[in-house]
Amino acid sequence: MKNWSLLLMLHCWLLSYAKGPVVYSVPMQGHTTYTGMSLWLMVPQGSNYTYSLLASGTGSPIAGEADMSPENCWHKMCPVTLHFSGLTPGSGYRLSIYSREDSLVFSRKYHTLQTPDPNLPANFSVIAGSCFLRGTGGLTELVDNHAADPIYKSLMADTSDLMLWLGDNLYYLYEYRAERGMLRKNVETRLLPEMQGLLGDKMHFSIWDDHEFGPNDSDGSFPKKDISARIFRAFWPNPPAAEENNTNYYKFAYEDAEFFMLDDRYLSKRSPTPGIHSIIDSLQMSWLKEDLLHSTATFKVLCLGSQWFHDKRQGSKDIFQGSEGSEAFLQFIKNEHISGLLLISGDVHYGMLQEIPREGTYPLHELTSSAVSSWPNDGPLKSPGSVSSYLVPGTLYTGNNYSVLGFSGNPGKRLLTIRTYNVDGIVVWEHSIREDELK
Ligand SMILES: [Fe+2]
Repeated sequence: MKNWSLLLMLHCWLLSYAKGPVVYSVPMQGHTTYTGMSLWLMVPQGSNYTYSLLASGTGSPIAGEADMSPENCWHKMCPVTLHFSGLTPGSGYRLSIYSREDSLVFSRKYHTLQTPDPNLPANFSVIAGSCFLRGTGGLTELVDNHAADPIYKSLMADTSDLMLWLGDNLYYLYEYRAERGMLRKNVETRLLPEMQGLLGDKMHFSIWDDHEFGPNDSDGSFPKKDISARIFRAFWPNPPAAEENNTNYYKFAYEDAEFFMLDDRYLSKRSPTPGIHSIIDSLQMSWLKEDLLHSTATFKVLCLGSQWFHDKRQGSKDIFQGSEGSEAFLQFIKNEHISGLLLISGDVHYGMLQEIPREGTYPLHELTSSAVSSWPNDGPLKSPGSVSSYLVPGTLYTGNNYSVLGFSGNPGKRLLTIRTYNVDGIVVWEHSIREDELK
């Protein structure tokens, strides 16, 4: 679904369907495993639609479970996630959506994950982006950064297999003050043709940062955080969270990589006071360490909304303070010989790659991918003294951007290639890391 004009046509058609709209959005493929998949869409309250999922070849229908709650609707537009299980690995399934009168309004094939062959891992690539700022009518249009407009087309033209949304996936300007405002912002964002164009193609996984959580720089003290969490989950078909509470951290695997999607808000404490500041809480840190210990993935990608390492950052320089100092985490991954680590972050409205040296073991790499369409931050250019001393030369980019991680090659010789692209989809820097450089 990469054709812009086709999307606009489809979008308008769905909205103006003669007997009332059947669906409001192109479906988005989220959490997908070898035997299950979750497909998200937005539908009218009261079910003007029916759906079927048929296995390719056999045509046998698969029963799904629709997860929808009226409390997540705004103006009778409701997010719903269809969960399917008991599927066959590496197989195609056609989702069809019908109006109440049985007219077909949408049809597309989706695939379960192929069981990885350890002797022949597939080549694949993953988009990483953060900070999507888009007006949704009224005064919110005033904040639009139109210089970034071409980036949506560039992202849509990208043929990567999946996409990581690294936080600030939308911006509550004042909407965090009331539940209705939060719902409106989410619904209106999903009605944007460019968002439908992006979400209607490939698989999507997201973490949150402050701007879809609450006010700017908010932390776990935000009183409406449980409402934010409920809405975030209703609009993103991510894997189930690792904890029972409303934190949003989880992991998923794809070929020989494992992605650890972390929560830097729900239980965070942001304070200039040493010993109180904590971004990754101790429960989450225990989960991360335990799962890293048991992971057999060649690449272990740790995604966080906030930057992990930056020795010139104002305020606290240590993201782990309060739960566990970064020294202790670094000691843990060194002692336990955790290989294949790549850190990813968003938030700061410029992009770069850092290489953090470690004594007696391989250096850690941190990719910061920001901002897709929010206002760029050229602070690092204006005050070069503020730039992290871990910067890999040539990788600082202060224009709007996104990055693509490419995983390729034979087992034992896998190659991770990181490329950052500008709004026109042109590579602005590229950096490759061999599997054996992460051991
Ligand atoms: Fe942002």
